[in-house]
Formats: sequence, C-alpha cells, structure tokens
Amino acid sequence: MADPAAALWRELEALESPTLGALFADAGRLDRFCTTLDLPGGPIRFDWAKTHLSDPIADVLTRIAEAMDFADKCEDLFGGERINNTEGRAAEHTAERGIGAPASVEEAHALHSRMKLLVEAIHEGLLGEVKSLIHIGIGGSALGPALALDALARDECKVAVHVVSNIDGCALEAAMKQCDPATTMIAVASKTFTTTETMTNAASAIEWLSEAGVADPYGRVVALTASPEKAVEWGVDETRVLPFSETVGGRYSLWSSIGFPIALALGWEAFAEFLEGANAIDNHFIDADWAENVVVRAAFADLYYTQVRGCQTRAVFAYDERLALLPDYLQQLEMESNGKRVTAQGEPLGRPSAPVTWGGVGTDSQHAVFQLLHQGTHLIPVDFLAVKIPGHDLDPAHHQILLSNCFAQGAALMAGKAADAGDPLGGARAYPGDRPSATILCDDLNPATLGALIAFHEHRTFVSAMLLGINPFDQFGVELGKAIAKQIDAGGGEGFDPSTEALLAAAGIGV
Ligand code: F6P
Repeated sequence: MADPAAALWRELEALESPTLGALFADAGRLDRFCTTLDLPGGPIRFDWAKTHLSDPIADVLTRIAEAMDFADKCEDLFGGERINNTEGRAAEHTAERGIGAPASVEEAHALHSRMKLLVEAIHEGLLGEVKSLIHIGIGGSALGPALALDALARDECKVAVHVVSNIDGCALEAAMKQCDPATTMIAVASKTFTTTETMTNAASAIEWLSEAGVADPYGRVVALTASPEKAVEWGVDETRVLPFSETVGGRYSLWSSIGFPIALALGWEAFAEFLEGANAIDNHFIDADWAENVVVRAAFADLYYTQVRGCQTRAVFAYDERLALLPDYLQQLEMESNGKRVTAQGEPLGRPSAPVTWGGVGTDSQHAVFQLLHQGTHLIPVDFLAVKIPGHDLDPAHHQILLSNCFAQGAALMAGKAADAGDPLGGARAYPGDRPSATILCDDLNPATLGALIAFHEHRTFVSAMLLGINPFDQFGVELGKAIAKQIDAGGGEGFDPSTEALLAAAGIGV
C-alpha cells in the first residue's frame, strides 16, 4: 500500500529551516513552544522553544497525522480496540490509570484492589516479618520498578527492594548479600512467566531461601504476571499471584501489578499518586488543543529531527541523580516500540524509524560526551530533565550548580561561539551552535510527577509510531536471538557461521 503521507513528508522536507536564533526573532516563541502544566505532583514546564519546531512544521505534521488517521488510532488506543494488530490485541496500559474500555478499567481496578490488600497485609506483618524484597524480572518487568525505586525510595522505606534483572549470577548474588533470607520475600515479575533469565534467577532465589533453612520457600514468593496459571504451576500459591491483563504490554506494565515493589516500598497511597500523575497526562494528551499539547509537540520535534534533519540518535540527560535510570527506561520504551523496519501492515517503512535513545546524568555527562554534542559532526537533539526542589538537605549550592549547568548547556548548544578573529586555529575553539535542546523542569519529584513524566514519554512514542504507520506494541525483533540461545543451551551449538562456532568452542559451550 502506498504511503498516504508520502507527499506531505516531501512537503516537510522542502520547508525552509531557519536557525534557532532566527526563530527567536519571534517574540512570541517562548509562549508558543513552552508550556507549564499544573499537574497533581506540581507544575512541570515543557520547554520546546530551543528546538527548530515552528508553526509551518507543526502544520505539515498535523496534516500527516490526518492522512494517517491519527484521531481514529487514538480512539482505538483509548477505546481498547486491537491496535496491536500483529498480535491481535489491544494496548490497555491507560486502563490501569482509569482511562479505557469500561470493562478493562473495571478489571484493572479490581486487580489493583487485590494488590493493595496483599501490600497492606505484608505491611501489617500478616505474612511474617518482611524487611526486604528481591524483585526479579527483566526488560519491562524490571526497568520501571528500578527507575521508580531509584527515584522515589532513596530514603527509608517500608520494605527495602532490590531489583535483579541480569542472568549473570553476580546480579542476584549482590542482592542476596544485602538480604536476610528469614525476612526476605521474592517477587517474580514476568508477563509471560517463561523468560529464561527471570525463571533461572527465580529458581536460584528459591534455592537460596531453601539452603538458608526457610521452611516453605515458595511461600515467600509473589508472582506478578499476565500468565497466572503458569505461576501457579511453577509453585506460587494462588493467593500470592497478582495478575495483570494480557493487553498491557511489558514495557508499559509498571502501572499494573509489575508496580507491586513500588507500592510495597512506598505504600499504597504513593502508588495511587503515581497512577494519578499518569492519568493527568492521559487527559492532557486527549483533551489539549494540539497547539498546547506537550505530547504532540515533543513527538513533532522528534519526527522533524529523524525524518528531515537525518538525526539518528536523541540524547536524554537527567540533571538529577534520582532520574539517573530514566535514559535506560526510555531506551526500552522508544527503541523496542518504534525500532521497526516495516509498517503495521508489513510494508517496508521506507523512512527512518525510531532514533537511538541514549543519555546519562548531568553534570557527569558534560565531562564525558558533551564535546561531541557541541562540536561533533552529528546533530543530536537533546532533552534535559531537571527538578527545582532538590532531593536532599545538603548545602543548596549543590543544587544551584546542578541547575545552572543544565540551563547553561542548552544555552551553549543553541548560541554557539565564533572563533576569535585572527586565530588560525580558532576553529578548534569555535562552536557552531544552532543545536537543539528541550528542557523539562519539574517543580518537585514525587510519585505523581514521575507518573506524569513516564506517561508523557509513552504517548510521545505512540504519536511518532502512528505518524510513521508503525505498530509500537509488538517486539518480534527480540525473538531470533532468544531462540538461538535456547538452541545452543540445548546442545545445538553447530550449524552457525564459523565465527560463532569458534566462539562457542573457545568458551566450551553448546557442544
Ligand atoms: O525480550 C523482550 C521482552 O519480551 C520485553 O518486551 C519484556 O519487557 C521482557 O522481555 C520481559 O518479558 P516478561 O515480562 O514476559 O518476562
């Protein structure tokens, strides 16, 4: 099928591309491209003014959205239709936060109530003394909890949570070393309850409990899964299986029972606030006029840079230690969702898909990778994230320096600096400038703010997918490597290319 927006993409490419400096000649630019939303966790400022986004660009992208039936796709998403066409199911993560098909919202609510009962029973000591939880999962079953706990559970919590994802035994060992088996519970988080890494780590955790003399090791396990029958088969008592719907995708699942460790560490109220923050962004995305819509605006800038300016990567820098894991989280969200070479109909995409998402924390990254951002040959759009209220009681000088560096980088990327006149080697000291950045400034970092930030990125990814015609809710690209690893583990280490066979032989495996 021909791309219904092909001519419009060409129109977008043909637009003039004024510099950021020229764009700021419009005195209304800041008002037009910077919006502060009053959200349940406090205001968040979304400043896209220092990107090349302009009204003509937004106009063409709006027409691309129309050509791609964006309004219908949105209705499908929020109405619980089977928008994940390759897997024949809906994508109902928003139902977890109260928006979706009524039956799905009701089901999510009922499952949350069940999870709340278990969380409160543990807090009340009804399952014995529980001081720690080892949360075992990988990908979407680990990245969300790890991010949320690192962001919000730095002070003393109701239960100390250790997230373990890697199959490398060192990862589980590090968590076990910090826990007393007598007061530790294990959460096995897996949508499918078949993932090799998770099931292997879970079995080793059971062994650890058993060797330490815990009488009923399976009695210490909570399963977080969309395959409850598999969890029961594996040995988890039905009363400690917290299911979620098959229609909630792995990388969109921390709103479901995958968020159990967040609720256990911080309390149910905090988890409810987390959902509330996300729900506020859902409503903004659905209701706000596109000129004011921070989600659509961010996606438009993303598309402009990948499709017109040839940007192959985008960078995210958190100027707050508490958000250090956000780039990792966004990598899965964006790259697993939109890293596709065909459309939802299986036709070649014919244009770039998602850029590579990467990043780190400021100011550390300034002293490591910012050289390339300022003077390299790649154009890399940058997102800066910062929080006005610090997450500590230390000398306020720390936070002021952190924030001033964040804002200085955005200013420097845009302004650049000419070489000194008459300096023959001045090029090395010159900065081209005109390099784009967006800044998200939160007043406070709390559960509701984090929920809002994550939901903002989910919908941003969705908008890009819909305008490109991609299905963002499948991930078949991860399967081939898994199948080959299983083949090798089963002793089938032959029939590969000479390099792989030699590696297997050198490591002494698969034979
Ligand atoms: O291999 C990719 C993936 O399927 C992710 O999409 C998912 O988040 C992760 O593995 C873990 O899967 P599960 O929750 O089923 O263990």
